[in-house]
Amino acid sequence: MPLACRLLEFGASPAALEIQELPSSPPGSGEVVLRMLAAPVNPADINVIEGTYGELPVLPATIGNEGCGIISQIGPNVKGLEVGAPAIVLRSGTWTTEMRVSASEVVPLPLGIDPWQAAMLPVNPATAWRMLHDFTDLQCGDWIVQNAANSAVGRAVIQLAHALGLRTLNVVRRPELIDELRGIGADIVVLEDVDLRSEAVRLCGGSRPRLALNAVGGSSALNIANALDTGSPHVTYGAMGRQPLKIPNGLLIFKNISFHGFWLRRWREAASLQEIHDTYLVLSEFIVSGVLKTPVHRVFPLTQVVEAVNEASLAGRSGKVLLDLGDCKTH
Ligand SMILES: NC(=O)c1ccc[n+]([C@@H]2O[C@H](COP(=O)([O-])OP(=O)(O)OC[C@H]3O[C@@H](n4cnc5c(N)ncnc54)[C@H](OP(=O)(O)O)[C@@H]3O)[C@@H](O)[C@H]2O)c1
Repeated sequence: MPLACRLLEFGASPAALEIQELPSSPPGSGEVVLRMLAAPVNPADINVIEGTYGELPVLPATIGNEGCGIISQIGPNVKGLEVGAPAIVLRSGTWTTEMRVSASEVVPLPLGIDPWQAAMLPVNPATAWRMLHDFTDLQCGDWIVQNAANSAVGRAVIQLAHALGLRTLNVVRRPELIDELRGIGADIVVLEDVDLRSEAVRLCGGSRPRLALNAVGGSSALNIANALDTGSPHVTYGAMGRQPLKIPNGLLIFKNISFHGFWLRRWREAASLQEIHDTYLVLSEFIVSGVLKTPVHRVFPLTQVVEAVNEASLAGRSGKVLLDLGDCKTH
């Protein structure tokens, strides 16, 4: 019988997570079954457990916002998917050993793709990719500024921007990350206490960034807004610091900075299936070619999900905490 991690009640404690056996059922018309391989523990999963995320499941529910598996069964009236193909699932409920889903929620991936990397593809690299494309028309050589630059999204921004010929000014809160991020293609890495209003032009060789990506909020969000060129967008996609944005009038009046939010879920709802598949095709090719790589901090079996969530809640991790949902041999 498949195992699933069920959330029984919202609250600060991951002790409300329980591993249960759930009945297996064959795929119906238009459905497929995936034998799940791996899923990460993301900040959004922790927010779901806390009951603070933007969209919450009806409890009890199997949680987990992304993951990958192997297509193991295909129901009637499904085209373009094959048994044995690796695939990602574009819906929640991934912390389980088996998923029965609509074929439209599955994106097949190239054979041989690293399952750990594939499991971390649906949310963070796609967020980075969409934010680099959907807010302004960046030209080769343009600068982007971001905080939480060592997060999974931040690293994807660095690697994808580098591949696109863009340059990145990155803010982190730990000095040991400076060389590491430069090693994956970051152009400039500074600590949170550098005043970007006065320093951005010098750091960026005479120009200012044309896009700011904010995952922290509070004074960090303001610092990267102050780095921007006149008329540029500032995009908030996360709130790790749990502090609200305070926007000085002058940034709106004199510099015409525009403030936006981004939520991948909203993009997926608005995008066509073709657009979604195109985005994941490009990103999966970047994974296969080694351009895009997210570090893994620790891997836990599904039965140790509480330990995994506790580990993922710690500051200063060296990468993602993953749940091994199957027999994940390649990594
Ligand atoms: N809107 C969307 O569609 C969307 C999509 C994906 C992700 N997100 C959001 O993006 C953010 C990053 O997600 P992720 O999965 O990439 O993160 P992650 O890999 O788990 O890394 C978390 C990052 O947040 C930093 N951080 C934690 N607490 C902080 C604080 N108080 N002040 C400043 N930095 C802090 C960490 O720094 P240290 O390493 O120094 O601890 C690390 O860089 C989260 O808020 C997530 O919910 C949003």
